[in-house]
Amino acid sequence: MNNNSTKLPNLMLGTAMWAWTIEKNHCFNLLDHFYEQGYRQVDCATNYPIDKNPQHFRMAESLLLEWIQTHQIKDLKVNMKIGSLNNLKTPDHNLSKSFLIMNLQDYLNKFQENLDCFMVHWDNRKQDAQIRETFEAFQIIKEQHLAIGLSGIKSPEIYSTINQEFKFDFNIQIKHNIIKSDFHRYPDFHGRRCFYTYGINAGGVKLNTDTYHDQSSLVVRGVKTETIKHWSQELSLALKRANENNSRPPLITMNQLGMIFSYYSPDINGILLGPSKLDQLKESIDFYNILNENDYLDVFNDLERLSNPN
Ligand SMILES: NC(=O)c1ccc[n+]([C@@H]2O[C@H](COP(=O)([O-])OP(=O)(O)OC[C@H]3O[C@@H](n4cnc5c(N)ncnc54)[C@H](OP(=O)(O)O)[C@@H]3O)[C@@H](O)[C@H]2O)c1
Repeated sequence: MNNNSTKLPNLMLGTAMWAWTIEKNHCFNLLDHFYEQGYRQVDCATNYPIDKNPQHFRMAESLLLEWIQTHQIKDLKVNMKIGSLNNLKTPDHNLSKSFLIMNLQDYLNKFQENLDCFMVHWDNRKQDAQIRETFEAFQIIKEQHLAIGLSGIKSPEIYSTINQEFKFDFNIQIKHNIIKSDFHRYPDFHGRRCFYTYGINAGGVKLNTDTYHDQSSLVVRGVKTETIKHWSQELSLALKRANENNSRPPLITMNQLGMIFSYYSPDINGILLGPSKLDQLKESIDFYNILNENDYLDVFNDLERLSNPN
């Protein structure tokens, strides 16, 4: 049995690298395959890709929309994250009621029945009154029968205090991998399957460090791969330990370890996949099916020990 319930975490396709390291046709191939396999949840944000090229602002959502319109899709479940004003990786954002409602209308017009969840993307504010205004917008969004959500919230405790009054069931995106997890930052929201994990590969960590290249996700995101080399070594050893049990399919990739870590963690409702290639997506979906039929709890416990050595 995985995490703390009988329901399995869903898979959601991420688009953060679309129009950055993933060119248009490959984005469409990923979406074609994901959809053909029966999956419907796709995550996007106004500011994807966050590649600091202003000409690429809103390009991921444009590609998603182009695919939807070309295929006349009506049953996708798009999670749209809004608030950011550019894709320059600056904290500039607008979460005022009027701006959120203006975005709501824009995204409803664009995505129509495919729009599923409206999520605040990054909030560094500490002012109760301003955040309350965002709640008033949430109320209007809920009246459109959309889910509402949070992502990258600096002060979750302010949200939980205000929410004692509103009682919203938020979907919450958290970075959650063996190296870093934000789950502990949302204690007031624990106990409900409302979390969606991203960064399960810690942004693209490879077990074989010789396989990084100049378009590797981790490299273009500005991470010095040398600084996390020890993690590749630790995780390779964990994978070896896992494969001492030969009663189940052996593990091969970092991505599989990341999926196990999310799958067995408490309160997880969804796992965000961030494949940059079709083969990676196929591998993730194949492994999801394997996870649903095999027991890797011992691997999760081992990874948790690595993640929290104390
Ligand atoms: N809420 C937020 O603030 C937030 C933040 C970040 C992301 N997200 C969402 O979550 C999605 C995923 O996040 P992420 O890109 O950080 O995820 P991630 O899984 O940590 O990193 C993705 C990278 O890992 C590698 N990878 C993925 N699948 C693989 C596989 N099956 N085998 C081998 N390598 C694999 C690829 O790197 P290479 O290209 O180098 O092979 C890929 O680009 C994003 O697209 C976005 O939608 C949300």
